Amino acid sequence: MKKKIAVIEGDGIGPEVTRQAIRVLNAVAESFKHEFEYNYCMMGADAIDKTGSPLPDETIETCLNSDAILFGAIGHPRYDNDPSAKVRPEQGLLKLRKSLQLFANIRPVSTYSSLFHLSPLKSKQIEGVDFVIFRELTGGIYFGKKETSTDGAQAMDECTYNREEIARITRLAFEQAMLRKKKLTLVDKANVLETSRLWRRVVQETAGEYPEVSVDYMFVDNAAMQIIVNPKQFDVILTENMFGDILSDEASVISGSLGLLPSASIGTGAALFEPIHGSYPQAAGKDIANPIGSILSAAMLLDHLGLKEEGQLVRDAVNWTLLNSFVTKDIDPVNFYFTSTIGELISDFVSGKISGSVNTENIELRKSTII
Ligand code: IPM
Ligand code: MN
Repeated sequence: MKKKIAVIEGDGIGPEVTRQAIRVLNAVAESFKHEFEYNYCMMGADAIDKTGSPLPDETIETCLNSDAILFGAIGHPRYDNDPSAKVRPEQGLLKLRKSLQLFANIRPVSTYSSLFHLSPLKSKQIEGVDFVIFRELTGGIYFGKKETSTDGAQAMDECTYNREEIARITRLAFEQAMLRKKKLTLVDKANVLETSRLWRRVVQETAGEYPEVSVDYMFVDNAAMQIIVNPKQFDVILTENMFGDILSDEASVISGSLGLLPSASIGTGAALFEPIHGSYPQAAGKDIANPIGSILSAAMLLDHLGLKEEGQLVRDAVNWTLLNSFVTKDIDPVNFYFTSTIGELISDFVSGKISGSVNTENIELRKSTII
């Protein structure tokens, strides 16, 4: 199979984790006789520095002409605390989402028993947690009318949704529920917001087409609490843009490390895959970031291209490293392996160079031990 993949390494640790994901994709290509053509493009602070724009036109062009997009991370502290900055890295990502109509952001939350001790929740609460958040990504308050009065004393962000915007992601979420535990929870604030009441109507109508899926409705404030007290109750969570942004960060800590979680943003054309962690500028260039979020994003990319066996092999490789304590500094601050070593191990596993028992001696040489 021949596929074109646009690669946006982005800011901070984006380049170094993306490189490991590409390494794993190359191992997949070699083992399964696929051809992946990578086209590199810019977005974010990196693009502002080089071109003045957070999303140069060529990037949109390249992405539109690709089968999938692999993205690293966006953001730089020099923009974060400056409310008067005219150009921000994040504008690039928002514009790309809109230009490619990436209307559904999908974030799976699963747990690994070897990492239970890192979770802020107790083991008995997280055992068996496995749910996925479907966050609407191109509407709502993020993209509504924005205004600041001329005297600067008032500001406004409008939240609007139309039926079709809700219906298209709702269908995807129901389809996913059918493949899972057949449970869908709509998270909204229908006791206060008109847009939430529209979400409920559309979801209720769509539910008629999926009689096997049990649907429940939860206010977002309660959902924020339920994700902590009883995360096992969820299967598919469907929600609007802003609520999804907040809840998916909250849910991401359940697994024990933000560095592990992948995401997919899908729409009408090429889909985009990115780890959910940010640009973590303090770690940039140090070879200590966790590449697994990016590598599992590449696994989601493979699934999306219909390469299910390949995607599963990458996930098996990741599980193997975690089970054998080949982990980065975020997971074990004392006995840790470098970003590039983890990438190498995972790609070697994919290539079949590692079997059953491991000769840890060579790997030990790459271990960093703080005394
Ligand atoms: C995310 C991020 C973005 C968002 C930012 C970088 C604009 O937090 O992908 O969740 O708010 O959507
Ligand atoms: Mn976010």
